Amino acid sequence: MIKKCLFPVAGYGTRFLPATKSMPKEMLPVVNKPLVQYGVEEAIEANMTTCAMVTGRGKRIITDHFDISYELEHQISGSGKEASLGSIRSVLEKGVFTSVRQREMRGLGHAVLTGEPLIGNEPFGVLLSDDLCINDGPGVLSQMAELYAEHKCSIVAIQEVPREETHKYGVIKGERIAEGVYRVQDMVEKPDPEDAPSNFAIIGRYILTPDIFDILRATAPGANGEIQITDALQAQAREGRVLAYQFKGRRFDCGSVPGFVEATNYVYDNYYTRN
Ligand code: G1P
Repeated sequence: MIKKCLFPVAGYGTRFLPATKSMPKEMLPVVNKPLVQYGVEEAIEANMTTCAMVTGRGKRIITDHFDISYELEHQISGSGKEASLGSIRSVLEKGVFTSVRQREMRGLGHAVLTGEPLIGNEPFGVLLSDDLCINDGPGVLSQMAELYAEHKCSIVAIQEVPREETHKYGVIKGERIAEGVYRVQDMVEKPDPEDAPSNFAIIGRYILTPDIFDILRATAPGANGEIQITDALQAQAREGRVLAYQFKGRRFDCGSVPGFVEATNYVYDNYYTRN
């Protein structure tokens, strides 16, 4: 039912400098696969086969990654090395990749609005590839798509975080309506612990209804002077049209060095198989 997923991939990745000076942070490999490919695989697994990339300057290699590398294919054709391309070939067979460039970095809300021409008037997923989610069984976007089919409203993924970390996230206040499902009453972008309405933090997975674009157009800059998706979602929340979903699975904050190292070790120990 939800066919498209938006990938805001224009951010600078300053926490990984100097590695990200000329390389997009989304291309940092967790073991042997770039972060953004994990995200694309999760979207495709949820049947969101149109992957809409909101890119920016210096990010061209992301769109190149989701294309054939003719010379490479030719070079290793028929050799034992072909198996190494298995996962990306499968992604290319199933997915369609579109992109638009975000010329100015004015926040996640602005990035989502920039993606409007790629999405149109239909519900869509948003995946922030910094948040690597790993689990056996249906992925986080799949779980959320199932919930969408029942409720037909916007959904944010949430996870409990220690109180002292609320300033890193959007934080929700919600009323529990089912196991792991909350109707959002309020949400705040990056509150100090004493102002946070709970310790349920928004993780980088969203399902949004397309009226969000009109709301974003009318949303003034908020935290950090940026147009925040959290502020736009609050307009929907006031009408009872946002759910928060405590997903099943492990999430790694790959936007931070410790989270990235933790993810690398976890994937290496649990999923890496030598070809
Ligand atoms: C963004 C959102 C925030 C959310 C976070 C999840 O923040 O604005 O609400 O909790 O992603 O990773 P960023 O990490 O881009 O600053």
